[in-house]
Amino acid sequence: MSEPKAKNIVWHETTVSKNERELQSGHKGCTVWLTGLSGSGKSTLANLLEKALWERGVRSFVLDGDNVRHGLNKDLGFSPADRTENIRRIGEVAKLFTEAGVLNVTAFISPYRADRDLVRDIMEDGDFVEVLVDCDLDECEKRDPKGLYKKARAGEIPEFTGISAPYEAPAKPELTINTTNQSEADSLADLIGYLESKGYLSS
Ligand code: ADX
Repeated sequence: MSEPKAKNIVWHETTVSKNERELQSGHKGCTVWLTGLSGSGKSTLANLLEKALWERGVRSFVLDGDNVRHGLNKDLGFSPADRTENIRRIGEVAKLFTEAGVLNVTAFISPYRADRDLVRDIMEDGDFVEVLVDCDLDECEKRDPKGLYKKARAGEIPEFTGISAPYEAPAKPELTINTTNQSEADSLADLIGYLESKGYLSS
């Protein structure tokens, strides 16, 4: 990991530990990192999960690609270097949420394996739950909720993931959810079932 630019800075431990926060809330602080093509269902699934968690009294929050690019990352585009910086910053934010005991859910294409692995590396073991939201490109293109695939095919959007820019699926995600043929409710049930089975959530 690269060293900070600033010198003469000292790390301070927090007064309330992550573990104490988790004991109080009754669930883990962790990052559920959804990765997949545009239109694969990341945002839909993230928002369904957040609502379900909210109803169970779980401290949760969604970090979403399009929203974060309106603020924190409004200076970034879609070149490989910008996507790497996008994911690096989100990773640091997700780590802060995790340390704060929040079960946070991120919905970014995050197309590069190395970028996602860097996020995994800055987290404590078990705090990073990588979920491949797997959907055939054909189906994503058919859904085309924002009309972007159509524009990309017409050459109006350069470096569009799946069309003119790569997507590197994770080799060993904690979980794969195939949304090509599965209902939203079933995908949500798979995700919650996994989090319960691994003790992130109590069942
Ligand atoms: S990432 O590749 O850097 O992880 P991110 O998830 O933040 O991408 O943003 C992806 C969203 O931006 C897409 O869902 C889509 O709405 C929009 N978008 C605009 N241009 C592109 C592009 N060239 N490639 C992919 N998504 C794009």
